[in-house]
Amino acid sequence: MTTFDTGIINLTMAQKPVTIGEMVVADYRKAEVFRKYGMDYCCGGKKPLEEACRKKGLDPQTVQKELDELDLMPGKTHQDYESWSLNILADYIVEHHHRYIVEALPMLYELTNKVARVHGDRHPELVRIAQHFDAVAQELQMHMIKEEQMLFPYIKQMAIARQDGKPMPTPIFGSVENPIRMMEAEHESAGGGMEAIRQLSSDYTPPLDACTSYRVLFAKLNEFEQDLHQHVHLENNLLFPKAIAMEKDRSAA
Ligand SMILES: [Fe+2]
Ligand SMILES: [Fe+2]
Repeated sequence: MTTFDTGIINLTMAQKPVTIGEMVVADYRKAEVFRKYGMDYCCGGKKPLEEACRKKGLDPQTVQKELDELDLMPGKTHQDYESWSLNILADYIVEHHHRYIVEALPMLYELTNKVARVHGDRHPELVRIAQHFDAVAQELQMHMIKEEQMLFPYIKQMAIARQDGKPMPTPIFGSVENPIRMMEAEHESAGGGMEAIRQLSSDYTPPLDACTSYRVLFAKLNEFEQDLHQHVHLENNLLFPKAIAMEKDRSAA
């Protein structure tokens, strides 16, 4: 059963993780296994392993075996996000993942359009990749503003009030579940856009005749998608469920 301490939030999962998102929360090394099999542990992280495997046409036992092997290996090499207070986690997401997007977007925007312009005749999928990326970029920029200006400040205020034993803030949007539902839908949409790009680019594999810009573009898009997966994972599987639980805990008090 999931429990929450007062003071610095300390969520502990006494039960074995059930969903693939929970598995990644408990041990971030498992994200690499899911990534390898093209399984969505961030937006689709609320599914049990068997269901997530079925969706991808994979044998759950094969994937389970690889996950079990990690359990036998010593040392979790990931950051222990699980133990962080929500205000620290929210700041980390902004400083690490939002900043990465803000810095990567201008270059990727220019490169997707340039490569599509130069090579689009011979590789028409590049034009569609540029269109998908434009949509993802615009969506994410608005999305991050909403998180940074509305949702995250409220979550941080709750976390700090809890730590200091002060009254919890009153949300301007009803329950925190309302903006969280909206953010999760937007994650789904941005994730879908990047998934389309991955398919159009044959898993970011440049063709033999690809020039340097073409190759750099695919490598950078791949990096962008991996970062987005980690980013959405931290929000969907850690920050958001903990914020909902913290708010409910206040209501119960
Ligand atoms: Fe975010
Ligand atoms: Fe988000």
